Amino acid sequence: MSADLWNSAAAVLDSNWSRDHMVPSRRLYPHQWSWDAAFIAIGLAYVNPTRAWRDLRSLFDAQWPDGRVPHIVFDPRTPEGAYFPGPAFWDVPAYAGRPARGSTGLTQPPLHAIAAWEIYRRAVSHGAVCAREAGEQLAWLYPRLVAQQDYLSGRRDAGGDGLASIVHPWESGLDNSPSWDATLAAVPADLGLLRRFHRRDLEVADAAHRPTDLDYARYLGLVLDYRDGGYADTDLAHRHAFVVECPAFNSILAAAELALAHIAGVVGADAGTHRRRAREITEAISRRLYDETTATFRARDVRTRELSPARCINGLLPLMLPDLPADRAAAVMAEAASPRFGLPRDTGLPVPSYDRTAPGFDPLRYWRGPIWINMNWLLRRGMLVHGYRDDAEDLRLAMLRLVHGSGHYEYFHPVTGEGIGAPAFSWTAALTLDLLADRSVPAYAHAA
Ligand code: GLC
Repeated sequence: MSADLWNSAAAVLDSNWSRDHMVPSRRLYPHQWSWDAAFIAIGLAYVNPTRAWRDLRSLFDAQWPDGRVPHIVFDPRTPEGAYFPGPAFWDVPAYAGRPARGSTGLTQPPLHAIAAWEIYRRAVSHGAVCAREAGEQLAWLYPRLVAQQDYLSGRRDAGGDGLASIVHPWESGLDNSPSWDATLAAVPADLGLLRRFHRRDLEVADAAHRPTDLDYARYLGLVLDYRDGGYADTDLAHRHAFVVECPAFNSILAAAELALAHIAGVVGADAGTHRRRAREITEAISRRLYDETTATFRARDVRTRELSPARCINGLLPLMLPDLPADRAAAVMAEAASPRFGLPRDTGLPVPSYDRTAPGFDPLRYWRGPIWINMNWLLRRGMLVHGYRDDAEDLRLAMLRLVHGSGHYEYFHPVTGEGIGAPAFSWTAALTLDLLADRSVPAYAHAA
């Protein structure tokens, strides 16, 4: 299967390239998305390293002066009507010499340092010329990656406990995950917004797969609230209705510090600060987001201080962290192996996005049940970090089988494995290349 799969994945990436960036999907997502760019760069680097760096650089060219990396960078050549909520809705002012309405004001998980370090390491193994070029790219990115971390660990530490808060479900990358239900229930839903603004996603995708209108009205209301406050982060916990600490977002934040420690070593900066921050974030995740009673990691609402009752795939991602104590890692593995999720040795499939036994488990609706390759890819790397090598290999093979059998879909039915959502999805294709090529322990987790 390998050659076919490799070629089809490379073809998806070829067809989704747009001048200086990759689109996640031509029809559904015709701009550049932040964490997509990181997943994509990791796989794209096998077939076109120049484009992989280019994609990361065009994303960081759009970084805000406060360090935030926008969750969408709008392509000025894409018409306003091709995506909603588009540039006019976000109405971001001009910044850093870039025209107004060039991006959103939200962020996404900061996976980019991890991507940059992976690509650099691979380039080094290809000889001196590749290593020098990649070193130049790393040197350009490093201060920008640091500014991104500073923004998230500083202004976004709305709870004051050393974790970054997200201010919108879209920032998690897990848009309609049940992790946000309890918090969203208290967010006003103005259905009038859906009469004023048209949901373009329902024209290009099946309504049964997408977030409900009620959720969508809340999403729009939260954007308007943040936008009308000038996208400022002061006093968030008091004035904004959605302020949540996500275990996956913060695990990526901590792992990014480990990647930055390695990058600092190459560019001649101080690695120690990054290692210390990684340890502190890991400790804060264990302290704040772990529920002793059920032995699971959950999202926490900063305003109510409550942990979300929902068991979702984001609770499995602290496994990415090498400093996570072994008993916590074992608890994550037990949760993953339980009937709530299930490992490939029992199900033949990668892990679903939500608890299979929960009454709201929905095999079609986006982040409320379907299987996503990016989350499983991160989970597999966590298994490697903590020495669960056989499980990691099973998961790698299960992902490859799924994509080979069903195609490079955006997500997959958690019972039948059928492909759903966008058919030629960039991160599925990119991570497939990585899964075919690389079986080693993730580079960020090596001792510096
Ligand atoms: C959806 C996903 C998000 C992704 C984006 C573009 O919003 O939930 O994770 O970044 O699509 O692919």
